[in-house]
Amino acid sequence: MRVLLTGACGFIGWKTGEFLLEGGHEVLGIDNINDYYDTKLKEYRLFKLKAYKMFRFIKGDIEDVVFLKKVFDEFRPDIVINLAARAGVRASIENPYVYYTTNVLGNLNLLELSVKYKVKRFILASTSSLYAGQKMPFTEDLPVNSPISPYAASKKSAEVTAYTYHYLYNLNVVVLRFFTVYGPASRPDMSLLRFLKWIYEARPVIIYGNGEQSRDFTYVDDIARGIILAMENIEGFEIINLGRGKEPISIKEVIKKYEHLLNKKAKIVFKEKNKADMESTQADITKAKKLLGWTPLISIDEGLKRTVEWYLKEGRHIGFKL
Ligand code: UGA
Repeated sequence: MRVLLTGACGFIGWKTGEFLLEGGHEVLGIDNINDYYDTKLKEYRLFKLKAYKMFRFIKGDIEDVVFLKKVFDEFRPDIVINLAARAGVRASIENPYVYYTTNVLGNLNLLELSVKYKVKRFILASTSSLYAGQKMPFTEDLPVNSPISPYAASKKSAEVTAYTYHYLYNLNVVVLRFFTVYGPASRPDMSLLRFLKWIYEARPVIIYGNGEQSRDFTYVDDIARGIILAMENIEGFEIINLGRGKEPISIKEVIKKYEHLLNKKAKIVFKEKNKADMESTQADITKAKKLLGWTPLISIDEGLKRTVEWYLKEGRHIGFKL
């Protein structure tokens, strides 16, 4: 299939691109390569994708409708996977506007064009952050009306707008709510890459709050596989959790696991808890199992081991800053 992959140089976009290309799909990747974090990581991922013959890349922004029109006109995608987003929970408090222009208006541009160009399926990345205040494990039918960060609010807006486009124009939409995705070459604003780099470099490890907050950390390969499964068979509008779906793991526990894997001791510095942070997350993945036949395969120990191996072999040589 011809797949338009937005955010192709992002962490999840890159892995999804690799899996699509290995599966024989034709992929057009777009990304604005913004400097929200060190672009060296984005260039690293793009370099890897460019090794595939069926991959093409165009630099551009989903907020730019003229650019997008040209892309749709020329490429005529069967599937659109929108992984282009501003995704920092805490950073969204500092600069909320860009979360709305990209995550809401950029997504709206893609929905409009997907209808116009008769796209078979539209896949939207969403977030476990929407479940703030709900009882775990989180099921997709919970009312998620109280987002606690501009980021979560922007994703809620993107979800409901996608529903409107499904309702009005019969666009098939799959919204995937990801649960704190980690793995090699992840975003350096996220806890698991920061902790790894800080412990390895013997620098202070900053914990916001007491470190007891826990996450349903999910390995990136499992997520990419789930996205690809969502390209097939789903008709209508569905919201589906993609998370490990096991007992959440506290960030203190993760740090201990890293200490063990690296054989180094972390020097922890505690800072004030951020108001936009959830205490705990855990996915109910019954729906993903039923509709997609998806089940996560990588345990947290295996995922962290792979992440450390990548870091020692390649990651530390990229020279990216946090
Ligand atoms: C992550 C992603 O960043 C979001 O894009 C995604 O939408 C979300 O998961 C999700 O599940 O959907 P978050 O849970 O904040 O958001 O992930 P981390 O950045 O890994 O933070 C986890 C916890 O570690 C938070 O409580 C955070 O405050 C803490 N943390 C993070 C630290 O204590 N120190 C740090 O240096 C970074």
